[in-house]
Amino acid sequence: MSGVLQEQEKRLRERMGRVKHKIAVISGKGGVGKTMVTVNLAVAFAKKSAPGKVGILDADIHGPCVPRMLGMKGDILRISPIGAFPATGPLGIKVVSIDFLLPSQETPVIWRGPLKMSAIRQFLSDITWGELDLLLIDLPPGTGDEALSVMQLLPEMDGVVIVTIPSEVSQDVVKKAVMFAKELNIPVIGVVENMSGLICPNCGTRIDVFKKGGGEAMSRELGVDFLGRIPLDPRICEASDEGMPFIMVQEDSPAAKSFAEIAEKIWGFLYEKGGFGMEAHPEHVRNMDKNGLRREADNKEVNA
Ligand SMILES: Nc1ncnc2c1ncn2[C@@H]1O[C@H](COP(=O)(O)OP(=O)(O)O)[C@@H](O)[C@H]1O
Ligand SMILES: [Mg+2]
Repeated sequence: MSGVLQEQEKRLRERMGRVKHKIAVISGKGGVGKTMVTVNLAVAFAKKSAPGKVGILDADIHGPCVPRMLGMKGDILRISPIGAFPATGPLGIKVVSIDFLLPSQETPVIWRGPLKMSAIRQFLSDITWGELDLLLIDLPPGTGDEALSVMQLLPEMDGVVIVTIPSEVSQDVVKKAVMFAKELNIPVIGVVENMSGLICPNCGTRIDVFKKGGGEAMSRELGVDFLGRIPLDPRICEASDEGMPFIMVQEDSPAAKSFAEIAEKIWGFLYEKGGFGMEAHPEHVRNMDKNGLRREADNKEVNA
């Protein structure tokens, strides 16, 4: 390893040593809702955490969507003599994305594997993330360069959350994602089945657009946990396009309730592994509302 790389590796270990938990969100296929799951998970955890303790690394170099879904289009990374800092989104969520470095929205990134790996390494080693309770990593679909880089650079990762849709076409490729994590010795926290049924807004009939139950059956088959299902809901798409995580703006929707249960299971996984930030304290656990979120009053106390 060259001296420069060694230095970078040392910085990476130092910086990432200050991040308590790391979770990557992966899938077999594109367009199944990884980024939607990532940003809403970040919000769910940010509500449980002190401000500025949750971060997202958008590791989708060719199709970065985290900034758009958090209403951060046009933000930039703050660069100062002491380093580069993440941009700050809703609830103080710290975000780093290649999108913050591109001259325009239409600029494509035309890079081969090694360059992408080097960008991801720099995002982890050269950005001043600070002390974080949780870093979520949003990956492009599949088991390509970006996913491999992240897993190799962060072998201490708590685990991966796998997002799928119920169709068998999606199940086939998602199995590869599960095997990929297993091969690299990264725990699989569980599977989220997204776009699972649509309730007709007019008559209330359930339409299983992409079939039903595939995610759960596949989880059983592969011996990994099933975290829950999120229905198709046009309001989720609208909220994402407008840059507002749907669990913030549609708290009472069935989708938000399912999502809260999923977030709670992931929180439970981290809790077992030694706690999630301040919430490791039983008093805070007792103060959760039914969705596993800390009540507003408590938030204020903590933020004060
Ligand atoms: N449950 C859902 N209901 C409606 N739209 C959804 C749902 N999940 C995701 N979407 C929308 O589908 C599109 C793809 O989701 P995205 O999170 O970008 O997928 P990925 O990151 O896996 O490529 C986005 O426009 C998103 O807003
Ligand atoms: Mg995405």
